[in-house]
Amino acid sequence: MKTYLVTGGAGFIGSNYIHYMFRKYGDSIRIINVDVLTYAGNLENLRDVENRENYMFIRADITDKEAIQKIFAEHEIDRVVHFAAESHVDRSIKNPEVFVKTNVLGTAVMLNCAKAAWEQPDGTFAEGKRFLHVSTDEVYGSLEEEGTYFYETTPYAPHSPYSASKASSDMLVKSYIDTYHFPANITNCSNNYGPYQFPEKLIPLIINNALQGKTLPVYGDGKNVRDWLYVDDHAKGIDMVMEKGRLGETYNIGGHNEKQNIEIVTIIIDTLLEMLPKSDPRRELVSRDLITYVEDRKGHDRRYAIAPDKIRAEIGWEPETMFAEGIRKTIQWFFEHEEWMKNVTSGDYQKYYEDMYQNR
Ligand code: NAD
Ligand code: TYD
Repeated sequence: MKTYLVTGGAGFIGSNYIHYMFRKYGDSIRIINVDVLTYAGNLENLRDVENRENYMFIRADITDKEAIQKIFAEHEIDRVVHFAAESHVDRSIKNPEVFVKTNVLGTAVMLNCAKAAWEQPDGTFAEGKRFLHVSTDEVYGSLEEEGTYFYETTPYAPHSPYSASKASSDMLVKSYIDTYHFPANITNCSNNYGPYQFPEKLIPLIINNALQGKTLPVYGDGKNVRDWLYVDDHAKGIDMVMEKGRLGETYNIGGHNEKQNIEIVTIIIDTLLEMLPKSDPRRELVSRDLITYVEDRKGHDRRYAIAPDKIRAEIGWEPETMFAEGIRKTIQWFFEHEEWMKNVTSGDYQKYYEDMYQNR
């Protein structure tokens, strides 16, 4: 039975990945979820797996070398899937230091502890040990022209403190591959959406605000483009790279689903109006009149778009969920999890929202 150490498993993508893996492999794998539970980490995301015998949660900080060493010493880890990170661009613009600490130092600690645990006396690594570093397409910078895409060979050109810290962490992984032949892969994925996404990111923020009749803040001219992928398709891609990827390789994951932000906002409004029953009082609140153009994000990347040619050709990965279906599933999930949204938006979230949007 393979044991997976998943970092950041209480966050958005990590928790969806853990659900995906248990749906796919049942009792034939073991998952240890290591998460320090920042504002973005939420054990409610894992309620339905927490009692499984093949699941364990350990609260630890990935920058705490001793804590991570102890986990490797106490458990025979076969695979590391490294999600833990500070992940929000706007927060990185206000407070870059924690991004460097978690994303760069944290990745260095994870790499070093895995290497120390897995390296054999002759400097090689035992068959079956693998480290998958989960990264973002934002490391490639910004595309201006339509019809151009990010490939694995695109030079890194990060702009935000978030993407600079992720680029640095990718470089560290690459250095371990080149220097030690460390058995790792990197995946660079486009923007994800789906259940359990924290409402600081565009899609859940717009759903949550619209249902309360609050303004829908659109940065700049609303024409920035992101390439959206349903989170289960990302989880499937990570698993397929772990199983079939060539060691040392990078794979871009994205579904050719480019949309301007303003299109996303109007699709959400239209879909909410389609899905809300006539008797639901929230129908009265949801309207395009809520759209409010606000001050642009500093250094706002114009367009991201992934060419998933390599992962498709080498591994056979394809996205399964078209946007029209994925956004309905996401909205349905938020309808069914009002308590979840209430819990994550009480307390600190209010203060965050006031600080982030006061001048917008
Ligand atoms: P998230 O912010 O929802 O979750 C991050 C998780 O990491 C949280 O559970 C948090 O508690 C944990 N964490 C943070 N600092 C930690 C630390 N020092 N020690 C241990 N745990 C810590 O993020 P997400 O959106 O799920 O993203 C997960 C990963 O995927 C990140 O590495 C991100 O860069 C990458 N990624 C995200 C997207 C996206 O659209 N969200 C796209 C591509 C890649
Ligand atoms: P976000 O979800 O923060 O992801 P990222 O910055 O990592 O791509 O933002 C997606 C896009 O939506 C980005 O172009 C910024 C824009 N945006 C808004 O227009 N309004 C908002 O309130 C937020 C959070 C984002």
